[in-house]
Amino acid sequence: MTGIAAMTRTLITVAAAAAITGCGAKTAPTTGAAPPMVAADGDHHDHDDAVEGAATGEDHGHHLHADDDHVPPPAASPPPPPLPDAAQVKADLVAAESAAYLAARPVFTTYCAACHQQGGKKATAKKLGHFDMTGYPFGGHHAAEIASAIREVLGVGGGKPTMPKDKPGAVRGDEFALIVAWAAAWDAAEAASAHPDRPPHGH
Ligand code: HEC
Repeated sequence: MTGIAAMTRTLITVAAAAAITGCGAKTAPTTGAAPPMVAADGDHHDHDDAVEGAATGEDHGHHLHADDDHVPPPAASPPPPPLPDAAQVKADLVAAESAAYLAARPVFTTYCAACHQQGGKKATAKKLGHFDMTGYPFGGHHAAEIASAIREVLGVGGGKPTMPKDKPGAVRGDEFALIVAWAAAWDAAEAASAHPDRPPHGH
């Protein structure tokens, strides 16, 4: 008799649990009473916590305070140091290019300024239109790919040099290396989109 009563109670519990959890009534009786009971308990518990936390500000505050007893409050942690980001990478590339340009500038002045700098003895609008080294970044219609243009006219990589126009191949050795280094730094900055937007090609 008691066994039947207990079984009846179990079935009622299972039915109730199935109703609470929303599980299908088909599975509950075959899987036994224990798993649905646990599920129902867990669900009930979570529900209580959610209601407690959401509905009563006091309870929520109390929970936080209890946590404070064990771990330092998050606000006390120092902010993490800023990590190198894309902007920092670009700034570094631009700085490297500037340094390479300053090192190579005397070579440009010696071999190119007469024709490609405003006020140069042989400078003409046409020459300046090709390459204008008066300021920096360089001007002229090759500005968007100035490093490869200058590599080409100097024969970097094996081609026949065409500049300086009056003395092709005159840039050699350490001076040549300074311009090659500048061109590489310019390319690295360009590849990283570190150069400011250029005005449209106005040639
Ligand atoms: C004596 C004058 C003179 C000097 C010095 C000179 N150039 Fe030129 N450059 C010219 C002329 C003229 C042109 C126009 C194209 C041509 O006639 O070959 C030109 C064109 C260029 C071009 C454009 C090439 C093209 O295919 O459009 C570049 C880049 C250039 N020069 C770079 C330099 C560099 C770098 C130096 C120094 C190492 C230099 N030039 C020295 C006269 C000169």
